[in-house]
Amino acid sequence: MSGKKNWRRAGRSRAKLHFWEKCLVFDLFCVCLAAGAVMSGVGKAKLLDQGVMPAAQVQEDTQAEKKKVALTFDDGPHPQYTPEMLAILKEHDVKATFFLLGEEVEKYPEVVKEIQEEGHVIGNHSYKHEQLSKLTMEQACAQVNRTNKLIFDITGVYPSYLRPPFGDWHEKLDCEVNMVEVLWDVDTLDWSSQNHAGIVNKVLKNVQENDIILMHDGYETSVTAAGEIIETLEKQGYEFVTVDEILFD
Ligand code: NI
Repeated sequence: MSGKKNWRRAGRSRAKLHFWEKCLVFDLFCVCLAAGAVMSGVGKAKLLDQGVMPAAQVQEDTQAEKKKVALTFDDGPHPQYTPEMLAILKEHDVKATFFLLGEEVEKYPEVVKEIQEEGHVIGNHSYKHEQLSKLTMEQACAQVNRTNKLIFDITGVYPSYLRPPFGDWHEKLDCEVNMVEVLWDVDTLDWSSQNHAGIVNKVLKNVQENDIILMHDGYETSVTAAGEIIETLEKQGYEFVTVDEILFD
């Protein structure tokens, strides 16, 4: 069985957990965390006394306990708003994941380069945003492979992550596509509302630890909302990561 299918299943079953199951898992997690914190706190204090463990190491361990969440941006790159989004992310020292459309990559290669240089993860969102299941296998594969090649020609790296348009996978998409499908947990519908307060509220109401948030980097309102989402969730103990850290850690 391919890695791609495993990860699809992992992603969906996580989304299907009932609320009480999540609570139960979370409670158990908290009990373990509390016990672990007490134990490791005692151990580290001793080690620090003896000058064995540098203070920076303790600081790093504390940060590792933050709740992870991932911002993802689809349908770019956009010539104006993607660079604005990159500036907001840089201001907050946050890394995100951008799922790019091949036809936009062709138009704005310099923006693709900028996304890479800023240290974000670049994924594939097909070439023309067509619903892959409505295409033949060859056409669907061409949508994916053409975009991978375009991104590779600019960045020197083939994308590992694929977000199919509309979250709609082609059942037989097994051609040469050996990629991890990445869906989402919180859909901001930012492209539809283009209302930054509404986008922010949608995230704050629904977000949970290890969620993947779906946004689009082609709108001014999404740029503004992203800044507020980052500021608010960081105060709530969240840490923004790229999708690989959610899927594989
Ligand atoms: Ni899209």
